[in-house]
Amino acid sequence: MTSTPAPDPLARLAGRTVVVIGGSAGIGLETARRSVAAGASVILGGRDEQRLAAAAKELGDAARWRTVDNTDKDSIAAFFQGVDRVDHLFTPAASYRTGPMRELSDEDAESPFVSKFWGQYHAVRHAAPLLAEDGSVVLMSGAASVRPAGVAPAYVACNAAVEGLGRGLAVELAPVRVNVVSPGMVDGNLWSRRPASVREPAADGYRDAALLGRLGTEGEVADAVLFLFTNTYMTGSTLYPDGGYALR
Ligand SMILES: NC(=O)c1ccc[n+]([C@@H]2O[C@H](COP(=O)([O-])OP(=O)(O)OC[C@H]3O[C@@H](n4cnc5c(N)ncnc54)[C@H](OP(=O)(O)O)[C@@H]3O)[C@@H](O)[C@H]2O)c1
Repeated sequence: MTSTPAPDPLARLAGRTVVVIGGSAGIGLETARRSVAAGASVILGGRDEQRLAAAAKELGDAARWRTVDNTDKDSIAAFFQGVDRVDHLFTPAASYRTGPMRELSDEDAESPFVSKFWGQYHAVRHAAPLLAEDGSVVLMSGAASVRPAGVAPAYVACNAAVEGLGRGLAVELAPVRVNVVSPGMVDGNLWSRRPASVREPAADGYRDAALLGRLGTEGEVADAVLFLFTNTYMTGSTLYPDGGYALR
């Protein structure tokens, strides 16, 4: 008896165009790597030309790049003027400061919303006319939305707002699917740039709190993003690749 091979959902990415704003490093670059491995073309966005060029070189002919600063609406509009098709959009780019309400300047307190909330909102707004009907959007949140780590109320609220935005956009953009990925602490590029005096206590606290007793990897989060790109019945959902951090 011959058995039928199990369908490979990632095969749905072959020949598709995946746009990653925040694709020159970290989770976005890992998502781009996996998308290219599945046969997609990628368009990478970020602020730094050298980082973008290096990432695109690594990915080969399937990758193009354009600069964009997601704190600037005009820059986001200009980015999409050079894009003619979007099958899947992922928007992990974010630059912000976090900290206690009683310590942050107003500008710093507002920075998560400026970049991570409005940056993603305007990216989707400009991508919407280009999005394939059977395509999808994945927004980036963070598990601090449901379990605050440290004292950073505006950052916590921003992540919760991104998750609400995902549900709202899923209603507006259907049949285009819109989902959110909300990772826990990742052992990767972002935290490696922070001083050990900040990183190590945060990592120890995370290991204690997470059911799986460890940090995540950029690849584990990227796998969740590719699942949301390719599962054709997922929309309006938030996935938490957080090792069970939010539960304990
Ligand atoms: N890593 C974690 O532990 C973790 C956990 C939960 C949630 N998150 C969320 O995941 C996102 C970032 O993830 P990551 O770990 O992959 O960070 P990352 O390694 O620092 O990568 C960030 C990417 O976004 C780009 N970028 C940053 N600011 C930008 C801006 N204003 N405009 C355009 N591009 C910008 C960066 O390139 P340029 O600097 O050259 O622009 C880079 O390509 C953030 O929303 C963060 O809150 C991360």
